[in-house]
Amino acid sequence: MNLVEEIRKLRDERDAFIVAHNYQRPEVQDIADFVGDSLELARIANEIEARYLVFCGVHFMAETAAILNPAKTILLPDPLSGCPMADMLTGPQLAEFKAQHPGAKVVCYVNSTAEVKALSDCCCTSGNAAKIVARYADDEVLFVPDQHLGSYVAETLGRELILWPGYCPTHVRIHPEEIAALKAAHPGALVLAHPECPKAARDASDHILSTGQMVNFVKDSPAREFIIATEEGLIHRLQKDNLDKRFHRVSSYAICPNMKRNTLEKVLTSLRDLSPVVTVAEEVANQARRAIEQMLAWS
Ligand code: 13P
Ligand code: SF4
Repeated sequence: MNLVEEIRKLRDERDAFIVAHNYQRPEVQDIADFVGDSLELARIANEIEARYLVFCGVHFMAETAAILNPAKTILLPDPLSGCPMADMLTGPQLAEFKAQHPGAKVVCYVNSTAEVKALSDCCCTSGNAAKIVARYADDEVLFVPDQHLGSYVAETLGRELILWPGYCPTHVRIHPEEIAALKAAHPGALVLAHPECPKAARDASDHILSTGQMVNFVKDSPAREFIIATEEGLIHRLQKDNLDKRFHRVSSYAICPNMKRNTLEKVLTSLRDLSPVVTVAEEVANQARRAIEQMLAWS
C-alpha cells in the first residue's frame, strides 16, 4: 500500500475528516476531503460529523476548529506550524491596547491566537473584513493584528481604523516592481493580490481577494492568464480547477514555511497516533467562540 492509500484507509478506520488550507503542499491538498480558505475551513469545521478532524493548516486555524467543536478531536499534523503574524499580538498586549482606547470595538483577523480572539468583539477573515467592520459604523474600531489588511479595509470603507502593526512575513515579500515586470512580460494577465500584501503591491494589482475569492474569480473570469500575488500554494488549486488557464507566481519568495510543515508522512503519523491534539482552555474558548460565531452570523 502506498502512503496515500494508507492515509485514506486509516482516515476511514478512525472516522476522520481531512481539511487543508489553499497554501498547503500540493500532495497534502490532493489527499484532503476539503480544501479551502480560512472562512471556508472555519465553516466546515463547524459542520462535519467525523470524530477526528485532521487540520492541515497553521495552528490558529486548528485552534479555531477546536473552539467551534469542543466535542471533536482536532489534530494538527505538525504542531510547530504557527503563524508569525498571529504571534505579533499577545493577549496582554491587546488588553493594554484596549485600555488606551476605552469604548472602542475590537475586530480581530482570524490569524490570531485564541487569547486575542477572546478579547475581541468580532473576528473577520480576509474575505469578509470590510463587511464585518462596516457593522461598527458608529464606533471607533481597533483592527488587529494585520496592519495591511486593516489599511485595505480602511481604504475600502473610506474611514479611519486604529491598526496594530502586525504583518505577514510572506506577503510583505511581494513588491510592486515584480508585479510590474510580470505584467510587462504577460500583458493580457490579470493580477490578483491578497489583502495581506502591502499597499504598494495592492495598488499595482487589478483585484484584491482572499484565497477563496481568487478561486471563484478565476473560475468565472473570461481571462486566460493570471499573476497570483499571494502564497504560491494556491496556484496548485487554481491550475487543477482550471486546466485551460495559465498562472504565474508573483515571486519565488512568496512561500509560507509554516504552511509547508505538514507533509503526507506527518498526516499519516497523526492519524496513527491520534496526536498532536490542539486544545484551547475552556474559559478562553468560550470567550473566543462568541467572536467567531458573531463573524459567522454576519458573513
Ligand atoms: P485566506 O483567508 O485568504 O485563506 O488567508 C489566510 C492566510 O493565512 C493568508 O495568509
Ligand atoms: Fe501567517 Fe502569512 Fe503564513 Fe498566512 S501566509 S499563515 S498570515 S505567515
